[in-house]
Amino acid sequence: MSRTRPYRLVLTTAAAAMIGAASLAAGMPQQAAPPPGPGLDLVNERCGFCHTTNQVFAARKTSAEWPAIVQSMIDRGAELSPEEQKTVNDYLVAHYATDKAASGAVGSAAAAH
Ligand code: HEC
Repeated sequence: MSRTRPYRLVLTTAAAAMIGAASLAAGMPQQAAPPPGPGLDLVNERCGFCHTTNQVFAARKTSAEWPAIVQSMIDRGAELSPEEQKTVNDYLVAHYATDKAASGAVGSAAAAH
């Protein structure tokens, strides 16, 4: 009966949306996903109010600059205990410092400097 039709329409629309999102993601030359860890959890929880976390991951900072950035964000209102601050510092320095050869997420940027 016609009762099945709206249901099918919803399914088809959802499928189309998923395919669209997938091809969009695949087509965009984005940076690699942030490596998981307690540092990432903290960044996602505390660093996304005032700007997107993408702004954090896209920032090109050295291992010397990151702790100063994090401190300045705390001065602005980011809520991190001293312990959490250290975790975030370590995470950002380990994965997003432009001067760190071991950094996976910004590999080519590290080589360019
Ligand atoms: C209370 C609001 C607030 C919170 C919370 C916050 N930020 Fe920010 N952040 C800002 C503002 C405002 C700017 C832009 C001002 C500027 O560029 O100096 C900014 C800019 C930045 C930048 C770019 C700075 C540059 O020099 O390019 C980075 C990186 C950054 N934030 C990281 C973080 C991290 C990491 C956290 C979590 C620990 C965080 N932010 C949490 C307000 C915030």
